[in-house]
Amino acid sequence: MYIDTHSHLNSKVLYEKLEEVIKEAIDNQVELFIVPGFDFETSVIALELAKKYPFVYAAIGYHPTEIKGYGEKEYKWLEEHINDEKVVALGEIGYDFHWDTTTKEEQTEAFVRQISIAKKAGKPLIIHSRDAIQLTLDTLKETNAKMVGGVMHAYSGSLEMAPLFIKENFYLGIGGPVTFKNAKEIKRVVEVIPLEHLLSETDSPYLTPHPYRGTENGPKYIPLIVDEIVNIKGINKEEVAKILLANAKKLFKLE
Ligand code: NI
Repeated sequence: MYIDTHSHLNSKVLYEKLEEVIKEAIDNQVELFIVPGFDFETSVIALELAKKYPFVYAAIGYHPTEIKGYGEKEYKWLEEHINDEKVVALGEIGYDFHWDTTTKEEQTEAFVRQISIAKKAGKPLIIHSRDAIQLTLDTLKETNAKMVGGVMHAYSGSLEMAPLFIKENFYLGIGGPVTFKNAKEIKRVVEVIPLEHLLSETDSPYLTPHPYRGTENGPKYIPLIVDEIVNIKGINKEEVAKILLANAKKLFKLE
C-alpha cells in the first residue's frame, strides 16, 4: 500500500473527476491521501473531502502567493478547524519568490502566524519553499517549528542543506522531479539521506513524473516515484513502501 502525502484533490482539475482520480489511484495501490489546502476555498474543500472519505486526510493553510487581503476571517477559520480530527497538518505554507503577487513582508507575516496556530494545536506543518530555502530554514528555526515538525514538500534544496531541515524535525517530500533525468541533486538527496526521513508525494496535478511529464499528474503515479527511490537506494520495493507509509503515519498521526 502507498500513500500520497501531497495530492491536490481539491484543485479544480482533479476535483471535477474525483471519483475517477481516486479509483485510478486505488487500482495502483495508492490508498491513503493527504490533501493540502493552498487558499481559503481549497482548505474548506480539503476538509470536506476528509469528512467524506475515510482514506482522505486534510491539511489546511494558506500558500504564500494566495494570502493577499487575508485577515481575521481566514485566520480565525484556521484556528477553528485545525483541531478537527481529520485535519492532520497545517499547510501548505511557506515562501515563494518565483511570483510577485505578495511581498516578502506579507509572506513572513502569514507564515509566522500560521506556524503559531499549528504549534498551539500541536499539528505538523506542510512547507512550500520556492527560491527561498535559506530564509525558510531561518524562519523555521526562529519560530521553533521543531516543536511540531512537518515536511519540506517537494524538497528542492541541496544535499548539504537536507540534514539541517531534518535536525529541525522535518521530513523531505519526494515527488515527480526525482524521476527526471537531469534532477541530479534530488537523486543525490535520496541516495544519501536515510529512508526514515523521506515521504512519498505527487503534488498532483503538478510535477508529473517521467515518462508522463507534460501531462496531468495524479496520485496514481506514486508507484513511479517509489520505483525511482527503490532504484536509487537499491532496497527492496516492499520495504521501501512499508517505511514510507510508516513515516507518514508517524508524522501525521494516522491510525
Ligand atoms: Ni501543493
